[in-house]
Amino acid sequence: MIHVLDHPLITDELTRLRDPICPTPEFRQRVRRIASLMVPAVTANLQSTVVPCTTPLEITSGKTLTHSVVLVPILRAGLGFLDGFLDLIPNAAVAHIGLARNEETLKPEPYYIKHPPSLADSEIIVLDPMLATGGSAVEGVRRLQAAGATRIRFACLVAAPEGVATFESECPDVPIFAASLDRCLDSRGYILPGLGDAGDRLFGTA
Ligand code: URA
Repeated sequence: MIHVLDHPLITDELTRLRDPICPTPEFRQRVRRIASLMVPAVTANLQSTVVPCTTPLEITSGKTLTHSVVLVPILRAGLGFLDGFLDLIPNAAVAHIGLARNEETLKPEPYYIKHPPSLADSEIIVLDPMLATGGSAVEGVRRLQAAGATRIRFACLVAAPEGVATFESECPDVPIFAASLDRCLDSRGYILPGLGDAGDRLFGTA
């Protein structure tokens, strides 16, 4: 299931950062702000547990998150999406997944995976700004599931319908949250209208 977060502040930021003349520092800041603006929707149904809550005046009850949160940026562009999430969920652990395309099979294969020892009791939020073909997102989710994760959600800036279809058929239990659902992929796998190569624009390597 895809949730497109149609909010005027998100749309404003996204419209401005799509512009190819948006400089790298501004691009980074806008991606970070969009990530933060997405956090309330992405986390809206996290489970809470009722706990005693002591105030300066009395003891009442409150609620705290039942499960720890693990943020998982997919390298490299996912890193640009991380800080906006950490700004609002500072206690989250950060796992990393690095994937590279095997030039023979054309499939993404992990070259680096690091996560907390147990994922079974955590809420996992996978971060990758561009859901294009869906290959990396699916591979990332599979690796996390193989490590015991069961509560997983996926957040991106821009999604392509092709990537959404692949992801939904391969990972039907993982909701997608996107700032925009764009039109399609071009022949090179870029999202249209898109914003170009998110990693290059975040890290100034274009
Ligand atoms: N990755 C990007 O950074 N941009 C696209 O358009 C597609 C994949």
